Amino acid sequence: VELNWNPEMVEKQGFAHYMLKEIYEQPRAVASAIEPHVNPETFSVALKNVGFGGVSVQKLDELDSKADWAKTQEMFKGIERVFIIACGTSFYAGLIGKYLFEQLARIPVEVDIASEFRYRNPVIPPKTLVMTISQSGETADTLAAIRMAKEMGATTLSVCNVRNSTIDREAHGHLYMNSGPEIGVASTKAFTSTLAVLNCIAIALGRTRGALDEKTEAELVKSIMAVPSQMEGVLAFDKYFEEAASGLKLFRGFLYMGRGTSYPIAMEGALKLKELAYMHAEGYAAGEMKHGPLALIDERMAIVMVAPTDHLYEKTISNLEEARARGGKIISIGTGDNEKLRAISEYYLAMPKAHWTTHALLSVIPLQLMSYHLACSLGYDVDQPRNLAKSVTVE
Ligand code: G6P
Repeated sequence: VELNWNPEMVEKQGFAHYMLKEIYEQPRAVASAIEPHVNPETFSVALKNVGFGGVSVQKLDELDSKADWAKTQEMFKGIERVFIIACGTSFYAGLIGKYLFEQLARIPVEVDIASEFRYRNPVIPPKTLVMTISQSGETADTLAAIRMAKEMGATTLSVCNVRNSTIDREAHGHLYMNSGPEIGVASTKAFTSTLAVLNCIAIALGRTRGALDEKTEAELVKSIMAVPSQMEGVLAFDKYFEEAASGLKLFRGFLYMGRGTSYPIAMEGALKLKELAYMHAEGYAAGEMKHGPLALIDERMAIVMVAPTDHLYEKTISNLEEARARGGKIISIGTGDNEKLRAISEYYLAMPKAHWTTHALLSVIPLQLMSYHLACSLGYDVDQPRNLAKSVTVE
């Protein structure tokens, strides 16, 4: 299978690695992901040229956008549940999609790893939308899953980065990450772009199905539109981790935790550390800490806690205090100048204030940078980690 681009076609533009360049491209990638779908004057969402009803992906741009949006809305009104299927980092994006879709559109969502879904003989009731997420659009398990879902009568929608990739071509409806080529094996900008697209889909679903009012829609659109400039500030953690890496690499293991959308971010952070720095890391729902991981904690274990000031904050803090009482060293990600978190943490990373629907797009950035700098300081090849491939086209 060929991708539409190769590494030589995309320069590193002065960055030491493609991965670092791609981390820095996230503000632009997110802006491009939402641009087709949001109206910056009315702060409303209309998904652009999704193509339900059958049109080849090359012809999507020629569609009458108004008629196409009406078709998408008709489809959204007719469904009763959503399945999201993906692998790797795209799967973690899908998990965040569940929080967004259920909360904003009040529709039940199941998220599945493609290799589990395809071999489980899943039950797909009528009126199900099966959505796949794949940066490459070529991942073998995700492709097999979408084919199976089609055979079982589901309507399918793909979110891909590579246009005209196999998954993109085979889906009924098409949405794009619009991140531009991603070369680093570990996905970064495709992940945040996907979260931006998922925000747009969730808002569109919520409005179409009557679960969201116009005012809330406008607030949500404003929050997602604010993300690119908020991200610019968060990228400053690059220098921070460049210095902190030498201390961080002494830890024996890393336990990443969070609640709500910060739970998938914890898993994504742990995945990045495994992929790049080859260190042992686990991502956990903070509420599960007492059910096992607590036994792992001692002074050589780093606790990475994603703890934005939201409705779950107090609960997360109590988990943090417990971890600390067991000797764990705390790296925390919170909102603004949080004195309390700063006081109990070895490393405190302040995020700008954001709505819960967009916080994940920001909090993942310090975790990407931390893994990147840890891997660099250990002398590993961050763009091409050992044993891994950018696109897994075989089982
Ligand atoms: C590989 C890559 C990951 C990626 C996953 C899913 O494992 O190394 O970075 O998240 O595949 O890829 P996809 O192209 O389907 O999003």
